[in-house]
Formats: sequence, C-alpha cells, structure tokens
Amino acid sequence: MKKAIIIFGSTGNLMFKKLIPALDKLIHKGLVDDDFRIYAISRRDNTIDDYIEIAKEHVKDHIDWERFKSHLEYLIFDVKDTNDYKILKKNLIKDGYEDVSVYLAVPPKLFPIIAKGVSESKLIEKKDRNKRIVFEKPFGEDLESAKDINRELWKCFDENQIYRIDHYLGKEMIQNILVVRFANIIFEQSWNRNAIRSVTILSKESEGVLSRGDYYDKIGALKDMLQSHLLQMAALILMDKPKDFSSESIKDAKVKILKNLNFNKDKLILGQYKGYKDADNVEKDSDTETFVYAEVCVDQDEWKGVPIHFVTGKKLDEKRSEIIINFHEKNDLGEYFPKLKPQEDKLIIKVSPTEGVEFQFSVKEPGLSNNIKQASLDYCHNCKAMENTPEAYERLLIELLNDQRTLFTRWDEIETTWKLIEDLKVHKQTPNIYDGYEDILDILESKGVKINDL
Ligand code: BG6
Repeated sequence: MKKAIIIFGSTGNLMFKKLIPALDKLIHKGLVDDDFRIYAISRRDNTIDDYIEIAKEHVKDHIDWERFKSHLEYLIFDVKDTNDYKILKKNLIKDGYEDVSVYLAVPPKLFPIIAKGVSESKLIEKKDRNKRIVFEKPFGEDLESAKDINRELWKCFDENQIYRIDHYLGKEMIQNILVVRFANIIFEQSWNRNAIRSVTILSKESEGVLSRGDYYDKIGALKDMLQSHLLQMAALILMDKPKDFSSESIKDAKVKILKNLNFNKDKLILGQYKGYKDADNVEKDSDTETFVYAEVCVDQDEWKGVPIHFVTGKKLDEKRSEIIINFHEKNDLGEYFPKLKPQEDKLIIKVSPTEGVEFQFSVKEPGLSNNIKQASLDYCHNCKAMENTPEAYERLLIELLNDQRTLFTRWDEIETTWKLIEDLKVHKQTPNIYDGYEDILDILESKGVKINDL
C-alpha cells in the first residue's frame, strides 16, 4: 500500500530541525518505498523550489535535496477551509495513497481546528486503520485545555488512530530502560527500596530559549520538560513489570505508577536564567521558569521512602540527560576493608548526548592495601565502533508509518501527568534568577538540596 505523510507546520522549527533530517535518513536507508510521499502543508505562498531554498537555510544536517524533493509535494493551505482538505483528499485518492499519516507540528491551539478539517473532509474517517493523526507535544497547555482538545479529537477519531508524541520515548536509551531493568536479574531483583536509596532524573541544557520565546514564555520548564519527558522517564524507571511487553500493557503499568506519584510541594525550586527576559518574544516582566528542581515520593510499597529528584533547566553548564539510580551504601566490612571515603553504588543510564550505561561499584584497591575504592563499568552505546544509533524522530516516524503505537503516549498518561503538574503549579513561586550553573548549585544548597549527581 502506498504511504504518504502530510505535515502541517512545515515551515516551523520542528520540521527543519527534526522532521526533514529524520525523513531524509529513512529515505536514505531505504526504510520507505520509492513512492513514499511527503506533503508539506503551509499557508505561505511558495513554490516547491522556494520551499527547498528556505529549508536549506534552516536545516543544519546534510540532506540530499534532489532525492528529498523527489518525495515532496508542497501545498498552500488554509487550515480553516474545509475545501482545502477535500482537495488534498482528492489528490491522495488520485495518486493512490491509501496509507496516510497526518502530522500536526503546530501549536496546540491549532489541534482542534485541523482535526475538525481532517475529519469533516473525511480525510480520516473513524475505523479506518490505514489512517492516523499525530500530535506534537505539548498536548494542551494545562489539564483543562488538554481535556478540551482530547474531547474534540475523540469526536473525530478512534483512540487507536491518535498518536501523541513525546520524542524522548524514541531515544535509544529510553527504550533500553526496559531491557536493562527486566533482562538482567541483578537489576530486576534489586529494583526497590531495599537496594535503592534515591533516583535522579536529570536533563540539563546549555542553550537558552533560542527563537522559541513565544511558545516557551507561556509554558515554562514545568510544562515543557517535567510534564512530558521527565515524568515519562520516571514512569519507565518506577513501573512494575508489565503483564507483557505489548504497547497497551506497558502503558497500563506506566499509568499505574504515575497515579501513585506525589510531588513534595515544599521541595519545589524554580529558576530563571539571567537575560531570559531579553530573549525575543519574551515578556519584559516574565516570571516563567527556565529551571525546575522537584521531588516526588512514590505511594507504592517497594518505593516507600525513596525520593525521586527531577532536575531540568536551560542555560546550564552542559547538555546532558541521565537517569541515576543511587544504591544504599554498604559500610559493614569492618576495619579489614576500610572505605576511605563514602561512596555508594550507582547505575547511570546515559540518555544524551552520550548514550550508554555506567555502573559504579566498590572494589579493593590494587596492591597490598585493602582499601575500598570506586570502580566503574562503562558501556557506551553510541561509540564509534558501532553503527550510529537512530535519532529519536527517525524511530518515531518509522513506528508511525508502520502503525506501531508503543512509543506514543495514551490519553490517560497525558491526563495523569497534567494532573500532577496542576497540583504542583499551585505551589509555584517567583523563580530565582541564576547566572550560570554555579548559581543554581548555590540556590539549591541554600534551600537544603544537595545532590551529588548534579
Ligand atoms: C523539547 C522541549 O520537547 O525537548 C525543548 O520543548 C527542549 O525546550 C527539548 O530543548 C530537549 O530535547 P532533547 O532531545 O534535545 O534533549
């Protein structure tokens, strides 16, 4: 069956930064057929050649533009005009495209408008398993707006036609969490409060808001990162073993644990980087947070008393996303094996930019002394000897085109995470201004938060 993807928002940041490079790689790797077609939808009055020229200015990756163009159609479109959707549908039928994915790389306020057009024009009809519709994150701006959007979507589509993106789920090491946890008996057996003291879920960025001030200033780090990527990582780390590894069972297990998370309201610390208010399209008196430290406890017996720390922010010292599992320290070896400094075992799941798993553990110092020191086993998943690992969007797009749903979020996951953020939002304070990473560490310390993992 001939496949097509229709992308709304094709002159946006996401299209140029992620979707074009990912689609080009899929074409290059032969993972889509020669007749695969990309319909780039835009309200701008361009020709396909103008569009390619604009794309060339924005896309940083190396693209084979001639080859890409051979898969591309450019459509000028008014998203409020049902007629335009009907014309698109006619073209698809005429060209024999029956397997169609409609991708909304647009702000959430356009979701219901485009969904309505797609549905009213019968571009996608309920029960048609060869048609699907994809929504970028954030899915709504808060619980209420997410519910409104979802209500509208359910009028138009079946849940199994709706794909909600959280691109972290497409990252290699996020997928690897389940394998590390459940394919290794040493971890599976010790994955609970008896062995684990705390967990840190970290996503630091060195860049600021760049050109996304308009979007970011209304959203902030709590909604931009915590509601989606960080809580998804937490769910995969903390959830029970799913009944099986099917998409629905994994989602059931994630929702169960998400419902058992409680934010510790007193531990919320927010920050805003110095100079944020000068960024384009940011309010001059904005109190939007660009940094969040938050802590949850888990209302489930195996995790009782284990704090889960979340740390995320922009304009920090580096770009690094990691999940750090801190095990309880063992100190009962007596004087024969002295531990010269405190050290606990750690398992670090490195999400990006390095991908891998590091296990830090205790060994005897080499030589005649019996001192205990720390050693590490460091597995690098994306080192040069191996084939380049696929970028998250590459994987997400191929799953989408193959109608695989595991890496997309279900409505109840979104609803539960929004509820969590809603509860936490009530305790929002004016963010602390920080100038660099050292400042953040000082602010955290002054509020009694000291985490070695940072
Ligand atoms: C996006 C956020 O979802 O994730 C951005 O909107 C953030 O603000 C980005 O920069 C981080 O993703 P990654 O893959 O670069 O870690």
